[in-house]
This record gives sequence, structure tokens and C-alpha cells, in this order.
Amino acid sequence: MKKGEFVAISTRCAHLGCPVRWISASERFVCPCHGGVYDFQGLVVGGPPVRPLDRFHTRVQAGQVQIGSRYSV
Ligand code: FES
Repeated sequence: MKKGEFVAISTRCAHLGCPVRWISASERFVCPCHGGVYDFQGLVVGGPPVRPLDRFHTRVQAGQVQIGSRYSV
């Protein structure tokens, strides 16, 4: 990730699609369905998911961050 670049991470778990949520105390995204755990970049650190959380293309236009299409990491 370059300085000034924004990363938009999907909240849809890469296992079976449950919504993950950010847990500040552990600095992890956690999926309540089967215990999937992801780091702040969406990389798998535990549980059944076999790939990272998807991301969305981003760009900055006129000082605003715009979110584009989803892609797999
Ligand atoms: Fe997230 Fe299974 S749906 S761990």
C-alpha cells in the first residue's frame, strides 16, 4: 500500500459470506458464524476462511474517496 492510498475492505466473510465486524480491542475483523479472523488488511489469521476479505477499487477525486468494483486479493 502506497502513502495516500486508501483500502476498502468488504465485510463479507470469504468463508460463507457472513458479515464480519471490526473488533478494536483485538484489532481484528471477526466473523461470528464460524470464527473466521482477519487482520486489519483483511488477511486470514484464523478460522476456516481460505482467502482474504475482498476489496474494492478506490480512487480520490476532488478530495473525496470513491469506491468502485469489488475484487479478490
Ligand atoms: Fe465467516 Fe464461516 S462465514 S467463518
